[in-house]
Amino acid sequence: MEKKFARTLVTTALPYANGPVHIGHLAGVYVPADIYTRYLRMKGEDVIMIGGSDEHGVPITLKARAEGVSPQDIVDRYHGIIKKSFEELGISFDIYSRTTSKIHCQTASDFFRRLYDKGEFIEKTSMQYYDEEAKQFLADRYIVGTCPHCGYDHAYGDQCEKCGTSLSANDLIDPHSAITGSKPVKKETKHWYLPLDKWEPALRKWILEGHREWKPNVYGQCKSWLDLGLQPRAVSRDLDWGVPVPVEGAEGKVLYVWFDAPIGYISNTKELLPDRWEEYWKRDDTRIINFIGKDNIVFHCIVFPAMLMADGGYQLPENVPANEFLNLEGDKISTSRNWAVWLHEYLEEFPGKQDVLRYVLTANAPETKDNDFTWRDFQARNNNELVAIFGNFVNRSIVLTCKYFGGTVPERGELTEYDRQTLDEFKDVKETLGNNIEHFRFRDALRDAMNLARIGNKYLADTEPWKLAKTDMNRVATILNVALQITANLAIAFEPFLPFSSEKLRKMINMPEANWNKLGSIDILAAGSALEKPELLFEKIEDAVIEAQMQKLECIKQENIIKNFRPEPVAPSVQIDDFGKLDIRVGKVLDCQKVPKADKLLQFKIDDGLGGRTIVSGIAKYYAPEDLVGKEVCFIANLEPRKLKGIVSQGMILSAEDAGGRLVVIGPQGEVKPGCQVK
Ligand code: 2FM
Ligand code: ZN
Repeated sequence: MEKKFARTLVTTALPYANGPVHIGHLAGVYVPADIYTRYLRMKGEDVIMIGGSDEHGVPITLKARAEGVSPQDIVDRYHGIIKKSFEELGISFDIYSRTTSKIHCQTASDFFRRLYDKGEFIEKTSMQYYDEEAKQFLADRYIVGTCPHCGYDHAYGDQCEKCGTSLSANDLIDPHSAITGSKPVKKETKHWYLPLDKWEPALRKWILEGHREWKPNVYGQCKSWLDLGLQPRAVSRDLDWGVPVPVEGAEGKVLYVWFDAPIGYISNTKELLPDRWEEYWKRDDTRIINFIGKDNIVFHCIVFPAMLMADGGYQLPENVPANEFLNLEGDKISTSRNWAVWLHEYLEEFPGKQDVLRYVLTANAPETKDNDFTWRDFQARNNNELVAIFGNFVNRSIVLTCKYFGGTVPERGELTEYDRQTLDEFKDVKETLGNNIEHFRFRDALRDAMNLARIGNKYLADTEPWKLAKTDMNRVATILNVALQITANLAIAFEPFLPFSSEKLRKMINMPEANWNKLGSIDILAAGSALEKPELLFEKIEDAVIEAQMQKLECIKQENIIKNFRPEPVAPSVQIDDFGKLDIRVGKVLDCQKVPKADKLLQFKIDDGLGGRTIVSGIAKYYAPEDLVGKEVCFIANLEPRKLKGIVSQGMILSAEDAGGRLVVIGPQGEVKPGCQVK
């Protein structure tokens, strides 16, 4: 028997306010949390959804420093953008606050102090990097150096962004401060640690025995952490941005961002419901659900619960339905590489199409494994599913009713066997769809809703009311009554997923509210009630729109290549004699052709001043053959001949390679005769 709860508290990971949110955040956390919350609200349950910006942490201070503004400026900017874009996408937070709020800083500070007073922390001193010029300790992100794994010379003290390896600042070769560039020294500093090892047995029991129903990816990750054995974790940092450590002698120290951020769930509930917040946090008939991405699992399933256990007064989450990652066109989404579809840009570029994005991100949600967002899939799901199935059915039902019954819901006569079969197909939709949502299977739930539209389409196609209109208007009335009841069901079933379209549809059929309890019924719309003029629910997205988005990504890719271009280090020294071994000469291109069946190759006839020669070169991607005829080029004249696609190439044409890998042929800057040597 599943436990019954009196109320539900839905939390959503607090996004860092150092950039806008993108489709990866949405698919992983906010869209599923919103579907879940809207569904519970429709059922009339007591539920609140909590969100807010995570405004502390080193990346924010680094961004501020890079822009020459204060960290507060940075978080004000992005908190504004994030909050507005969530609202526009219909993410229905009961509160969206921020961790720089007074109430949060006070709540986090009190939380720390309570644990401190109870003796729940260990105090430890350790040696940490210190910048003597800036007079401050350096967080791992503030230290750059050479990655010991791949040799990248701009790796951070916590991670190499080139090869992805997690590092500690001590691993870096030639570490230096990201603030002043100086070589840091090691200096002693004191910090507070939460002894996770103390809570390990309780955590094992709670998760491994008590929550076997959690998603396998979440349960599995927790089990690996617990099996490795937990260690004390530092919960303070030497930094001047964050919640000050409320202990005497802790000047210059703040709470670690991952200590204060999850307390944000509590402080935001407090801000929303100053008199009732404790009901949601301290009563055991409350169900707390944490929606997060997979990179946050350890903090929500191990660290934060250990903090709550140490306090002793709080409920632990009932479930943590973490999603995997969403990639974009085959590549990992990355804020620093600008490889993302940003929500605020989408909303500007696709006005009125919030539900299309919500639909695609749910249909393709990374629920059990990483998934890929592609613009082609976005277009296909819009055109072939939303437009062709859902929109088409609804439109036909309403248009036909307008045509034959003046826009009034017709009276239903006796149902045929076929009608009954159709109704049978969706009579259980409330349970099936609801059950899928309650178990965080949002893709399946969305499929259940779309299936209802499929049933409707098939019903109209099979019964063909337009053919019966001349002979049997009673039958037409029954068919359209059934079709309109299915339409009303769709308005309910899609409400948690596509709230904008559902509202538009409800207006068309004059259905003031979407009552979950009516789902599956064919008595939703009363005969005789009036419909409004039909409008299209969705519109086709043309190729040009999609191609423009793909082009935008292509430009970002090129910009990244150029940004990351670092000339190869100069090769080891050689003697002048080594250079002398190469016979480089100037030649004139007499003829140039594509090599058949070889995309990359061009075949040159060169006037080399010595009677002519053939050279095959791999630059077909960068030049049209006719553009090179008549040009002067430099080539290696004494390279051992070799066969390429059956053609003997007698030398090599010299090119320079630019940041994007493009080859540019090089030649003399003044007039020179073919055959002259390059020295
Ligand atoms: O990973 C992140 O984006 C974090 N800012 C999530 C914090 S969730 C919670 F603990 F606040
Ligand atoms: Zn590396």
